[in-house]
Amino acid sequence: MNDECIVEINGLWTCFGETVVHRDIDLSVHRGEVLVLVGGSGSGKTVLIRQMLGLETPTRGEVRVFGHSLQAAEPAELARTRNRWGVFFQGGALFSALSVFENVALPLRERRQLDEEMIRDVVVLKLEMVGIEAKHANKMPAELSGGMVRRVGLARAIALEPELLFLDEPTAGLDPDRSEAVVKLIEALHRELRLTVVLATHDLDAMVALSDRVAVLVEQRLVAVGALSEVVAKEHPFIRNFFLSDRGRRALQAAKEPLPGIARA
Ligand SMILES: Nc1ncnc2c1ncn2[C@@H]1O[C@H](COP(=O)(O)OP(=O)(O)O)[C@@H](O)[C@H]1O
Ligand SMILES: [Mg+2]
Repeated sequence: MNDECIVEINGLWTCFGETVVHRDIDLSVHRGEVLVLVGGSGSGKTVLIRQMLGLETPTRGEVRVFGHSLQAAEPAELARTRNRWGVFFQGGALFSALSVFENVALPLRERRQLDEEMIRDVVVLKLEMVGIEAKHANKMPAELSGGMVRRVGLARAIALEPELLFLDEPTAGLDPDRSEAVVKLIEALHRELRLTVVLATHDLDAMVALSDRVAVLVEQRLVAVGALSEVVAKEHPFIRNFFLSDRGRRALQAAKEPLPGIARA
């Protein structure tokens, strides 16, 4: 990992009418790291990811990705920037009318000039990387288990060989075993593809397993950003409730580094 900033958010405000979702947010994501964005339901994690994708417009402030301001970029430059990231939206967000194959092929068809044979090879390879056998390629999303939907969503997110991957709640709604399998898959993809990852989640186990750094979003602000050990040590009511409840403590026991006040598993 180095200090090169892949995403830089400066003085970001997001307001929807009277509702303030983000108040003066500063955040950098460094090349190669997994930054986990945590916060309660409705705290603005998804909207912050949408800001990093240029899908929302800041009320104030700026978002830069790969050094380009999303607000100031020309359409052609924005398109080139978009080609360098992959996105997994909450729940997998597969197109229900498209087969597994066509879901993964979609970004290739939209963004690359490839012939059918090349598309086929890339789709089969990406499905293989997420542990889905080619024989499932013609299935429809409704025929898949929750875990498989996540895998196909991840295959689609890495179809364009991105440098940067945005994952919104990749484990939400999965039972613990399936959730752990998806976390292991994300870990493997991060390692093998040398990705920079921004992951929004309220899943403590996923956060503990994957995070290089954690950013905590509470009441419109980032109240802590840093290594898990630094964040856990911060005096803040939300942090105490979220990380140091019984459930939180159990999850933190699996941390790679010793944490203040937490016995190791
Ligand atoms: N397009 C929108 N218009 C108005 N309010 C929105 C819009 N999108 C999100 N919000 C509000 O922004 C807040 C943060 O939402 P969200 O980012 O989805 O939270 P999280 O992902 O942390 O659960 C919520 O109160 C939500 O209702
Ligand atoms: Mg969300």
